[in-house]
Amino acid sequence: MNAHATVLLHPDFRTGTIDRRLFGSFVEHLGRAVYTGIYEPDHASADEHGFRRDVADLTRQLGVTMVRYPGGNFVSNYVWEDGVGPVEQRKPFIDLAWRTVEPNVIGTDEFLQWAEREGIEPMMAVNLGTRGVAAAAALVEYCNGVAGSRWADLRIAHGRVEPYGVRLWCLGNEMDGPWQIGHKDAHEYGRLAAEAGKAMKLVDPSIELVVCGSSGMQMETFGEWEQTVLSYTYDLVDHISMHAYYEELDGDRASFLGSATGMDRFIRRVVASVDAVGARKRSDKTVTISFDEWNIWYLKSRFPGETNLPLQHAPARIIEDVYSALDAVVLGDLMVTLLNHADRVPLACLAQLVNVIAPIMTEPGGAAWTQPTYHPFATTARLARGDVLDVRVSGPTLSTAEHGDVPGVTAAVTWAGERESGELGVFLVNRTDAPVDVELRHPGVALTLGGGVQVTADHEPAVHGPEHAAKVAVEHVTTLDAAPVVTTAPGTTTVRLAPESWTGLSGSA
Ligand code: AHR
Repeated sequence: MNAHATVLLHPDFRTGTIDRRLFGSFVEHLGRAVYTGIYEPDHASADEHGFRRDVADLTRQLGVTMVRYPGGNFVSNYVWEDGVGPVEQRKPFIDLAWRTVEPNVIGTDEFLQWAEREGIEPMMAVNLGTRGVAAAAALVEYCNGVAGSRWADLRIAHGRVEPYGVRLWCLGNEMDGPWQIGHKDAHEYGRLAAEAGKAMKLVDPSIELVVCGSSGMQMETFGEWEQTVLSYTYDLVDHISMHAYYEELDGDRASFLGSATGMDRFIRRVVASVDAVGARKRSDKTVTISFDEWNIWYLKSRFPGETNLPLQHAPARIIEDVYSALDAVVLGDLMVTLLNHADRVPLACLAQLVNVIAPIMTEPGGAAWTQPTYHPFATTARLARGDVLDVRVSGPTLSTAEHGDVPGVTAAVTWAGERESGELGVFLVNRTDAPVDVELRHPGVALTLGGGVQVTADHEPAVHGPEHAAKVAVEHVTTLDAAPVVTTAPGTTTVRLAPESWTGLSGSA
């Protein structure tokens, strides 16, 4: 007999409403994300602006709603003024973060216009590493100002009359990281972020600000960093950032499969730190989370700050991870966690979009293709609508070295519509190595499950190579015309989950 789990759901119990910006991604001037990634003027699919149509099409099908730009570590030594104006007058510079010569062919205008054409909301980051208040405020004015002021007029002189209206702004990137160019301690950064943010909001009061949280839960200053930085910025900012990357280490499959529990704990701890500051300040305001870098990442070989690495020229092949079906299952599970925190996490960016630890890969002058991780993201972005239900899950546990005992089955259920009738997204993960029958209990709700997508890792070896990735898409990713229902009874529907699998289903009630 198969193991058994239950998921109790009811439309009266809702956690939060999904902000569509939860399905964001990230394009950094790093490796081949920009050059031969989104942009390759000589490519057969290039549009009149030089951007690859094949990549744009896959981005649209992925369901990406928002893209962060231009970094990442890159932003901490970026001079945005060098990347605007006539391209032939722009000068290359050495990006110190990745030791790569950046040609400055693509800059703020090209990116923002690409995002606009693709219907994607941009999230811009300002350089608080080597630069400060004036450059940050000037960039907001360049993007959002109307005619009659210096930087807005410069944009207009460059051919763009209408302001871009960029709403989301990151106050630097990973400023707690010693690898960051212009790294600061929490007090230095908190003060600078407060001053820069104040100036930016004086230019455009409608913008939303994201202050840097910790670069990860492993940072020594984690927790203290958030509280110190927010002690300076709480009243000013809307969101605080979180970054997290996961990987299977030393063949410890169980711990890797439990990664989303790690993410869940990370979110809970950051929320606790944020709310502690709010309580100390006797504030009624809620600062929410921008999980603006999350993914699975193995090839950390070229980590910033390593001065012994040879200088490269963009586009260089850097951290082009190739993913397995197991990675896709874990990625889908991470999305389950993000959904279940919809009340506190309105923004998230899968880092990154193309070529660099990405769901979309390209060959220069050649094809664009999708990684296994593409599928759970695309399916979740497509099916998760409306509110997230406050589900109760019980079932087997999985013992892990890293996280202790974690749930063997996880679930998120979304509901778009009224209590009487709704369109559902049902996301189920079986982290165990045996099949599990999951009984969805929906008392008083006539629920019909539809089709969807299933990714099964099921003992797949953790191989990370391009030939393997192509096989994975065929053998481990299945489009389901119908849900894998085994039994139904009034108020319950039981579905069978394959070992080590992620399943996304549509439903209606
Ligand atoms: O996404 C790759 C890098 O990871 C980003 O540049 C940085 O912010 C993080 O360390």
